[in-house]
Amino acid sequence: MAQLNKFPIGFFDSGIGGTSIWSAINSLLPLENTIYLSDSKNAPYGEKSKQNIVDLAIKNTEFLLAQNCKTIVVACNTATTNAIKILREKYDVPFIGIEPAIKPAALKTQSNTIGILATKGTLNSDLFEKTSNTINQEIIRKEIIGKGLVELIEEGKLYSEEMTTLLSSYITPLTKEDVDCLVLGCTHYPYLIPQIRKLVGNKIQIIDSGEAVAKQTKTILEKHDLIHAVNNNSSHQFYTNKDKTVLEMLISNKDTKITVLEKDF
Ligand code: DGL
Repeated sequence: MAQLNKFPIGFFDSGIGGTSIWSAINSLLPLENTIYLSDSKNAPYGEKSKQNIVDLAIKNTEFLLAQNCKTIVVACNTATTNAIKILREKYDVPFIGIEPAIKPAALKTQSNTIGILATKGTLNSDLFEKTSNTINQEIIRKEIIGKGLVELIEEGKLYSEEMTTLLSSYITPLTKEDVDCLVLGCTHYPYLIPQIRKLVGNKIQIIDSGEAVAKQTKTILEKHDLIHAVNNNSSHQFYTNKDKTVLEMLISNKDTKITVLEKDF
């Protein structure tokens, strides 16, 4: 039997945002080989229908499985909340997903009011509703659709005036309410933490799921005996179906050997 351990972990996202998850996993599991798929041509997923998101998730999964990925990280809240159940039913490999961290936020809040910034597709999904029903129902949830943020991030306009104005229109109202925790429910948004911090100061705790997903990935790999423990210069391939400039910019400060390829998929 082929040694599955050395096969890569596959990642996909509607674009470059899932690299925030890739970085957390790469920090925890630096010996793992990885393949990352940035479906930027189809971003944003958050405004698409459930069926459309499922079809794109299947397309991405098949690309990764054709490259022998031993497990798949759905590094996108929108794809996880709309498609992971179907992916798990359809394919044999373990899937790791990401959804807005409202459970940790519910445990942390002192004011019983949390903000959740996510896409329309995530906030309207059945899985998000299901998870929301599991937390203390006395907690007030201020849900905000971050329309337009993913597009600006994909264009590399992270620190633009346009970004500041749009972000402020979503975030500043929260500072006037009793919100003390803000959940970042989209893997693109951790790249906005410095800008959000400027708007909310230290009054609001910002919660993202990167570290939790990395720990969960380790647990799943251990459970399936799939950990790659040999240090032989792990390889990291990134594929994008759009221009690679912004993707390269986000991952360029890594001292890991990375290849970025433009490819239509
Ligand atoms: N990174 C995706 C997420 O976590 C972005 C969604 C989108 O493309 O709209 O939801």
